[in-house]
Amino acid sequence: MGKQIMLSGMRPTGALHLGNYFGALENWVKLQNEYECYYFIADWHALTTGYEDTQDIKSNIYDMVIDWLSAGLDPEKCTMFLQSSIIEHAELHLLFSMITPLSWLYRCPTYKDQMTQLKEKNIASYGFLGYPCLQAADILMYKADAVPVGEDQVPHVELTREMARRFNYMYGDVFPEPAAKLTKAKVLPGTDGRKMSKSYDNTIALADDPETVRKKVMTMVTDPARIKKDDPGHPDVCTVFAFNKIFNEEGVEETESLCKSGGIGCVQCKKNLAAKMAIMLTPLYERRQALLQKPEYIREVIEYGNECARKIARKTMADVRKAMKIDW
Ligand code: TRP
Repeated sequence: MGKQIMLSGMRPTGALHLGNYFGALENWVKLQNEYECYYFIADWHALTTGYEDTQDIKSNIYDMVIDWLSAGLDPEKCTMFLQSSIIEHAELHLLFSMITPLSWLYRCPTYKDQMTQLKEKNIASYGFLGYPCLQAADILMYKADAVPVGEDQVPHVELTREMARRFNYMYGDVFPEPAAKLTKAKVLPGTDGRKMSKSYDNTIALADDPETVRKKVMTMVTDPARIKKDDPGHPDVCTVFAFNKIFNEEGVEETESLCKSGGIGCVQCKKNLAAKMAIMLTPLYERRQALLQKPEYIREVIEYGNECARKIARKTMADVRKAMKIDW
């Protein structure tokens, strides 16, 4: 039996931050060693909410692929491709749109959420409503067994399964039903203690150099109740401590007890954290510096991935047309 097939995508929103890294990318890097993995840049998906301003899409794609490669995705181990280069996704999306009841799309929780949250943008478009159809096409095109995603994407994978069942029922077995593979959430707050997010300006980017990371760590919010260095601290409300859980697994218990007993000041604690972060992030940073020297390599990686993806997509579409008897 061959390896299981994993597929996942990310919208090209520009440079990734550590929250994105620990939320998804770190896991993608691990999976490429065990499974047949397809990772793609969902640039058409970015248009569903961002069609008005496409100025940055190209540079965002480039920056994201650099982040992927710096983090350790390896073109020898996984297939990385660009959604809009595989035109078959548009065809499958169209065919799925024919068989998808509107009620499935209207009841999708992400549709309802975003319609209320992104009020200032005019997203009440046909493409935005049909987003889950496009996502189903992305996933089923490669007959994925599992889709590594965060909690927020589970309704889309569920809809994909329904779509596969409906298609198979009407036209015969073509698609397996993929499962969502939930990423164990390692949640990293932003430097101000809120959720790490570009819109809060509290991120640490994967691309930040070690000195920038150190400076950002030094501004992190700690326990507000701790005024003097030997006041007992409350690690559970401290951002620096939340980072220790991820970057300092061996030392986290010691840090906790030192903080609680007032045995270490916040400044020293931040310095220790910055040192631990440098150990983990420096190799990524160095890989990035090397990649920046050869911009044409980024394009080669994607073009190579596109070739591999396209072969599979063509085969799937031949099966689909045949099953639907539109292979005239
Ligand atoms: N909808 C996903 C997001 O916004 C991106 C995405 C598009 C995706 N197609 C996919 C993820 C297929 C997994 C599988 O993050």
